[in-house]
Order: sequence, then structure tokens, then C-alpha cells
Amino acid sequence: MKRSIIKHIVLYACILVCILYCKNPPVEETMQPYAGYPLLDNQDSIKQMLASRCLDSINFNNGEIIADIGAGNGYLEGMLSLFFDSLTFYIQDIDTSICNQLAVNKVVDFYKNLKKKPFSNKFIAINGTDSTSNLPDNICDKILMLYTYQYIRKPKAFILDIKKKLKNDGLFYVVNPQYGDYDDLDFQRKEYGWNASPLEKEISDIISCGFELIKISRKYGSFDDPYIMVFKIKD
Ligand SMILES: C[S@@+](CC[C@H](N)C(=O)[O-])C[C@H]1O[C@@H](n2cnc3c(N)ncnc32)[C@H](O)[C@@H]1O
Repeated sequence: MKRSIIKHIVLYACILVCILYCKNPPVEETMQPYAGYPLLDNQDSIKQMLASRCLDSINFNNGEIIADIGAGNGYLEGMLSLFFDSLTFYIQDIDTSICNQLAVNKVVDFYKNLKKKPFSNKFIAINGTDSTSNLPDNICDKILMLYTYQYIRKPKAFILDIKKKLKNDGLFYVVNPQYGDYDDLDFQRKEYGWNASPLEKEISDIISCGFELIKISRKYGSFDDPYIMVFKIKD
């Protein structure tokens, strides 16, 4: 009698686990930000979001051409356009389902409505591969790479490509948190082919592609706050 009750309990527990597993399969690692691409309409939240990517520490001058590599749908450029004018943004990403002109236009419309003024900034969606950005050559005053370096599968080829897209006096900004002990970097490399490089390796790889590190800083608040690194092409 007792044994059959235990058998039933075990059976029901197994069924329950199966149901829960099918409803909520384990979340696959993704290259996309955990918080997605929020459209924010509150000034404080917008400033906080920009600061989380160190974009509060970069000045953008009228007329500049800026490329953001791994930009998603350009949500950060939409926010920046509340504060900076007369810029051309290349919204660049490998993922065409997230980065395409339609998705970028939706973001731009949202922030135009928020600003209640037309934008003088231009927004161009562009898709690349693991080793090429597909940006036009020798055109960018600034190239941003925010929380993206670790996902590039062929980092050296990609960085050599980026170098061709910068003007000679252009700047390359890489913003990334450092990995923690809990990150399984070998798994990320084997399973997804990401480079998953710690900061030191990022820096040495970028330098080996002909860049010079001219600034590195960190606004330290919590353990996962990012570093901002600024590179220029080595003379
Ligand atoms: C964590 S998200 C960062 C999105 C955004 N930059 C941010 O800071 O919220 C990483 C992005 O990098 C993109 N990505 C990965 N490999 C790439 C590559 N080789 N070229 C361009 N984008 C890439 C992914 O598609 C994804 O949109």
C-alpha cells in the first residue's frame, strides 16, 4: 500500500516537472540585452540608460558621423537624439530581425514624438557579418561598440575592418563590463563561438590590429559597471 502511494507521488512529480519544463524551457543564452530595447519616455530613466552605457561621458559634435556596432534597433541613438543634433548615425548589427530600417524608424518616430520637434539627425540601418561591418570606408568620426565585443566571433578580422571605416583622426569607443568568476567563458566559446574575451585580451587584440589605447576609465558604483576604453589609430 505504502509503496504504491510513493510510486504515484513519484509519477505525479515527474509529470509536473515535464509540464513545467515544456511551458518554461531553459532560457538559451542570447546576444541580446536582458532588458531588451526599452522605449523610455521619462528623462531620468533615459539619462540613467545612457549612463549605463557610458554615453554620458562622450561628446558628439554637429556634423559628426557615428557608427554603433551591435546597436540593435538604435534605441540608444534615439535617446541621444534628444540631446545632440546634426549627426549621422549608422545603426549597425549582425541581427537583421532586430536591426533593420523599419525597426530603426519606429524608434526614431517614438523619440521624435517625445522631443516634439523634427530631428536633424540621420539614421541608417546596416547589417554585417562576423568579420565585416559593411560600413562605408574612411567615413566615421566615432565608432561605438557597446556591450558587444564579447560576441564577435572573429574579433581580429572585425577590428581590422572597423579600422578601415574610421577617419584617420577618428575614435573607437569600446564599453564593456569585466567578466565575473561565475561566467562560463569556455562554454560560451565552444557553444556559441563568441570570443568571450576578458578586458585584458580585448585590449591586446585591439592594439594588435593597429590601435592605441588613449583612455580607459570606469565609473565605479557596482561590480558590473562597465569600463570605457577609447582607442585611436596608431600613427
Ligand atoms: C548585448 S547586445 C548590445 C546591444 C546594445 N549595444 C546595448 O548596449 O544595449 C549585443 C549586440 O551585438 C550584436 N552582434 C553580435 N555579433 C555582432 C557582429 N559580428 N557584428 C555586429 N553586431 C553583432 C548582437 O546582435 C546584439 O544586438
